[in-house]
Amino acid sequence: MENKPHSASAASHSASSPHTEHHRTASESAQSIVPTLHRSPHGLLLEPIEKASLDELRALQLQRLKASLKAAYESVPHYRHRFDEVGAHPDQLQHLEDLAKFPFTTKADLRDTYPFGMFAVPRDKVVRIHASSGTTGKPTVVGYTKNDIDIWAQLVARSIRASGARPGDMVHISYGYGLFTGGLGAHYGAEKLGLTVVPFGGGQTERQVQLIHDFKPDIIMVTPSYMLAIADEFERQGMLARESSLRIGIFGAEPWTNEMRREIEQRMGIDAVDIYGLSEVMGPGVANECIETKDGPTIWEDHFYPEIIDPETGSVLPDGELGELVFTSLTKEALPIIRYRTRDLTRLLPGTARTMRRMQKITGRSDDMMIVRGVNVFPSQIEELILKQDLLAPHYVCVLTKDGPLDSLTVRVEVKPEHADSSTQERYRAAAALEHDIKSYIGTSVSVCVEAVGRVDRSAGKAKRVIDQRG
Ligand code: DLL
Repeated sequence: MENKPHSASAASHSASSPHTEHHRTASESAQSIVPTLHRSPHGLLLEPIEKASLDELRALQLQRLKASLKAAYESVPHYRHRFDEVGAHPDQLQHLEDLAKFPFTTKADLRDTYPFGMFAVPRDKVVRIHASSGTTGKPTVVGYTKNDIDIWAQLVARSIRASGARPGDMVHISYGYGLFTGGLGAHYGAEKLGLTVVPFGGGQTERQVQLIHDFKPDIIMVTPSYMLAIADEFERQGMLARESSLRIGIFGAEPWTNEMRREIEQRMGIDAVDIYGLSEVMGPGVANECIETKDGPTIWEDHFYPEIIDPETGSVLPDGELGELVFTSLTKEALPIIRYRTRDLTRLLPGTARTMRRMQKITGRSDDMMIVRGVNVFPSQIEELILKQDLLAPHYVCVLTKDGPLDSLTVRVEVKPEHADSSTQERYRAAAALEHDIKSYIGTSVSVCVEAVGRVDRSAGKAKRVIDQRG
């Protein structure tokens, strides 16, 4: 979706356009960083591995997987014990499928070895620490060697490039800086690609809008929910968000639906692209959508080996089936991670814009799944239905309470700013329509409460979609 004069749409980057010429020069100066880029039929500059044959890719993965298992076994006592317990030795890995013989790693393993027990290198080789905010219990701590930071930056640079950005563009980063991997992860990648970086971080929405207006960035990196808050602020300040300089938004760190993509693209007049990642596996840039297809994030499989498992039995499922995403790192030094259970639910899909496989846009985390009167409900399903109602904005939260012995779900959702003057009756009708849709599409009764603009809490980072008051 693109309608600005200086469109970023990938197809417009024909090899001979003056726009591309400009970028070729800029990318030449970044040669030491992203060496030997190849030009794709769309005029995109690609690393050779992005277009390698599947055979080449699988061979590289096998070689790297062997090394990663060996490093984990030899340098991390936790892995050695766990491998020994199930009688799995790195030497037994002859094929990629043999990975299924090795044990899973979970968040609990990182917590049990808090803070640095899973590190495979001496502490003085670790140049950076990040940690999850962890609402309960100890945070999970992750570490990076110099080489890990370089590869992370390279993969985020690849992700930003896949999103349609080119050296010389300006990026406004609104992911939080600090222990969260979002801000610094995006920052190093953007610099590596040769972008001008505005390291804003989260919060101070009024000022974010002012600087976007004044500096005229091409790209924004932010959570999709905070993008909406920024869009609202544009309008509060009397500006049209879609007339901003922004061409591309790179959104992630929380689930968001294709309906939300359309909403953001229309409101902002940009291409909205999905970036996925998690701190235990690296941070942002484990996978990223390609702007020319926007069909789910391409997993950077040369560095992370994905599996989908049945979350109940742990058995590996074939590509195409829905299950829990599991990652094994192939090149990480400080924190090799073996079969990490992400709790994210998705399926693996064949490559389209690249050789590497894609993941379907995340439908939800198993942690966010609500069970309401026996029916499994994800906030993303509710989001999809909210966006079908013209009156409603996708600022929403799901509140779980007890109604006697039964679970009860209330969806609190705001009216759109342009419908701020709507009557009680119109809101009532929108609430009834949403209740009806949820009942017929998801199969559970909920109550919907349509609220005034600004009544649902905004977050400057990941939106909290579920509030559980069941005690
Ligand atoms: O959220 C890393 C990140 C930062 C990714 C910025 C993208 C952009 P964590 O705080 O460890 O790391 O949270 C990881 O967030 O397991 C998913 O549940 C969720 N998540 C991340 N990206 C997406 C996405 C960062 N694109 C957890 N779609 C993951 C859906 C996402 N969920």
